Amino acid sequence: MPPDPHGGDLFAGERWVEPLGPGAALLGGFALDRADALIAQIHALSAVSPFRHMETRSGRMSAALTNCGAMGWVSDRSGYRYTPHDPLTGAPWPALPPLFARLAAEAAAALDFADFRPAACLVNRYAPGARLGLHQDRDEGDRIAPIVSVSLGLPATFLWGGLERGARVRRIPVRHGDVVVWGGPSRMVFHGVAPLRHGHHPATGGFRYNLTFRKPG
Ligand code: SIN
Ligand code: FE2
Repeated sequence: MPPDPHGGDLFAGERWVEPLGPGAALLGGFALDRADALIAQIHALSAVSPFRHMETRSGRMSAALTNCGAMGWVSDRSGYRYTPHDPLTGAPWPALPPLFARLAAEAAAALDFADFRPAACLVNRYAPGARLGLHQDRDEGDRIAPIVSVSLGLPATFLWGGLERGARVRRIPVRHGDVVVWGGPSRMVFHGVAPLRHGHHPATGGFRYNLTFRKPG
């Protein structure tokens, strides 16, 4: 059972696990103890490679995106790909902060994915109304290694579907410090984020941030 979402610091340090399927779970409160440091790193890296709204074949993404790590995910009218350079600055993406790498490996290990070393970290910034439609993460060669997804700031509803687009979709509340991991048999599950509701969070103001760690393969 997740603790009372309004409990604030009363539950700092509290962690719980909600299984979502084989190789997949919500790790409640898993990153709470280092959330402030993660947010400080997001500000630092987005000062180098700024948030931007990428174009896709079907339009402009409502969440703003940047990356860190050896490879970054980019999209434009011609499609998606991973690149070692930020097309906006021409420079390599900011390095993966050691704090990020450690968190990703620890969260993956909690689901028995040993030695997870992601080369890519997508950093999403959601303002109220921003959303992410149901999709599979299918731009990676490695389709067994997990995705590790960290929620910071305003709460959101994570949409957790099945291996087929038409499968029933569960609505999973994700809050500041929660981590979702999906790999192995669940690696290709359709997922998304419902439109973010207005709010104010003491750590991030009017935004939700999400870190998504991946192994492009
Ligand atoms: C994603 O699917 O890439 C991001 C999920 C999220 O923002 O929670
Ligand atoms: Fe995704």
